[in-house]
Amino acid sequence: MLKNNRLPVNAYTCDKYFAIEQQHIFSTTWAFAGLKEDLVKPGQYISVQAGLNNIIVIVDENTQLQAFHNICPHRGTQLLAAKGQINKHITCPYHDWRFDLSGKLRSVPKKVREFKNLDKKHFGLTKASVALWHGMLWVHPEPNPTSIAQWFADIEPHMGPHQVDKLIEAPDELVIKDIHANWKIIVENYIDHYHLAQLHVGTLNMYDHAKAKFQFVGPHFAFWEPLAKGYSANLERNSPLPLIEHIDKSQHGAWVPMLFPGVGISATESTWSVFHIIPLAANKSRVVIRTKVQPCSDLTYLSQSMRSAMYWYKSTFAKDDKMSADHPLASGDFLQEDIFVCEQLQKSLTSPIYKPGPSAEFGESPVREHQHIVWQYISKHLNDNAEQEIAVTSINN
Ligand SMILES: [Fe+2]
Repeated sequence: MLKNNRLPVNAYTCDKYFAIEQQHIFSTTWAFAGLKEDLVKPGQYISVQAGLNNIIVIVDENTQLQAFHNICPHRGTQLLAAKGQINKHITCPYHDWRFDLSGKLRSVPKKVREFKNLDKKHFGLTKASVALWHGMLWVHPEPNPTSIAQWFADIEPHMGPHQVDKLIEAPDELVIKDIHANWKIIVENYIDHYHLAQLHVGTLNMYDHAKAKFQFVGPHFAFWEPLAKGYSANLERNSPLPLIEHIDKSQHGAWVPMLFPGVGISATESTWSVFHIIPLAANKSRVVIRTKVQPCSDLTYLSQSMRSAMYWYKSTFAKDDKMSADHPLASGDFLQEDIFVCEQLQKSLTSPIYKPGPSAEFGESPVREHQHIVWQYISKHLNDNAEQEIAVTSINN
């Protein structure tokens, strides 16, 4: 059982917990790998870290997606990095072993002299899995995992009406931030209903937080809230971007699920965003946000932005305007506000006097529940002395 309904502080600060999570959470679940349109033409590939595994997703010659562990079966060298386009072969940079796009070993330099009895069919790339779900690419390190449909079955009805394929990516909206906080602090902030009306009083007031509905469904979190009256009264004018055409007025609102572990979706009347939290270390994470919008001409975007400017000028304000202009709490930007509190919280966790106070019964219930879910994944892998041992490590860090 989880003591006091909370994960131990070390779970947010200590390398051993981080390693256990990498092995038993991020290496055993479906991982976000990109958007469907990232991989279209034969030879296009991306490499993705999924817990302890680096996985390549590549389009084969029949335009089918293939996924392999990004490891040469010869000496273990990583084959491909980041993303790009190759021709017909994946070639290991170390000794030029060549594989075709279905992962079969095709040629080995100086085979006759160096490897007299090498049977190439035993040295293909190790298969992983790739699947498409809601316009996103997902990978799994195993060749036959729980299907993506089954993994997301419980959250499926809570994903909102957005048809991701009909939207186009807005490159200007791309956000990449390295945040000095454990990935769970960022998740817990994302699912914390209690802070919305406080921290974001001047930045997320276009939604009616008092009417939010949320719950965990399996390990995933469902969240929906309606538009605030002042904003929705003249939505065609107030929306910062052109409204998404295929969403009916009756369905307007914000769908903000958090898919376990660490992939948030934020889907509104005018945008659809994926908020990918990538754990880098116990106290460091990267967040990559990609946003899709209704396809329109540049002029339409510009005129919508101009039309809505007065609404945003009047309704957006800083949490604390006494701060210097470059302070996150003076930014009037909800992402900067969130990053600020996550980093402050991470700092406090290493204080010897830190202990969590009372937790809001309704608004912070998702935070407690998330901690239980994480605990279910990791607790059986902590040995009896682990907590004590971890406490010492943490202090020494
Ligand atoms: Fe927030």
